[in-house]
Amino acid sequence: MPREIQLRSPLDMHLHLRDEEMLKLVTPLTTETFAGAVIMPNLVPPVDHLERLLAYRERIMAASDGHRFDPLMTLFFRNYTEQELAEARDHIIGIKLYPAGATTNSEAGVKAIDAVEPTFRMMEEMGIPLLVHGETHGFVMDREKEFLESYDYLATKFPKLKITMEHITTADAVAMLDKHENLRATVTLQHLVITLDDVAGGMLDPHLFCKPIAKRPEDREALVNAAVNAHPKLMFGSDSAPHPIEKKECCGCAAGVFTAPLALARLAQLFDKYGKLDNLQAFISDTAQQQYQVSPPEKIVTLSNEPFQVPEAYTGYGQHVIPMHAGESLEWTVSKVQ
Ligand code: NCD
Ligand code: ZN
Repeated sequence: MPREIQLRSPLDMHLHLRDEEMLKLVTPLTTETFAGAVIMPNLVPPVDHLERLLAYRERIMAASDGHRFDPLMTLFFRNYTEQELAEARDHIIGIKLYPAGATTNSEAGVKAIDAVEPTFRMMEEMGIPLLVHGETHGFVMDREKEFLESYDYLATKFPKLKITMEHITTADAVAMLDKHENLRATVTLQHLVITLDDVAGGMLDPHLFCKPIAKRPEDREALVNAAVNAHPKLMFGSDSAPHPIEKKECCGCAAGVFTAPLALARLAQLFDKYGKLDNLQAFISDTAQQQYQVSPPEKIVTLSNEPFQVPEAYTGYGQHVIPMHAGESLEWTVSKVQ
């Protein structure tokens, strides 16, 4: 008999669903197994108005194949008025800040943090969380480490503002979690599994290229250690970021790794390797529920210790996307969803 585990209402606290045909292809690949996800707002143009956000939410629901699923919507950070924030508050899980130009579709992001402090102050007062892509424009391996200063500053200056350090990749960021009560973080699948060596150490692998770039073995070790031991402030956020194959297998490759359809299976394999399957529930849902005070719809996902062949590509609606681990066999598979 294969070994099995059951996960209650898995959540993906950082997800890119895109729009139009790509949205139609990738949304069901999340909604069939996840009970909810934090939806990133870096569309073109960005999701930075409530009407646009509500219309986007409708398109996500229409694409979700009737599965029970809560899209936890985010607005793209800009200076908002008090009235805009008051109107948006009940429809969003938080506001996502991108430093201008830091990653895919972030040109409209923030240029100087001190120019937007009035918005932080209002968010703090209204209890609206701030989600941050924490990278500077420094040397690529040091961008996250350099940004930690800004987290320090923000967490101190706005002590009641809940701040999520999105997709952390370094041991220093893990350590930072213990420094401020109001900081928590997400970590992706790829940063728990790969290092820069897998991206660029041998033949260049564009499908593993993402922002922040994967780091050193000791960074991965610190991330894995925190995740498999159910760190009380570390949540799963896949950062699954589909790009059409022609945007990945080209000169000027787009940043983003597509992991949504295999994330649960690969995480089970990872936690099993460390003998920590019992902690996967916290990492995949419970910690996020506590941190964000959300109650996702009931969904029981059974995973079995049986091989899962990751497809070479996901295709449909004229789209062609290559997932992480394309064509490889994983050790765990989703066997039932109730
Ligand atoms: C993301 C995308 O493609 O939208 N890319 C990435 O490399 N992670 C944006 C982001 O989260 O940085
Ligand atoms: Zn992202």
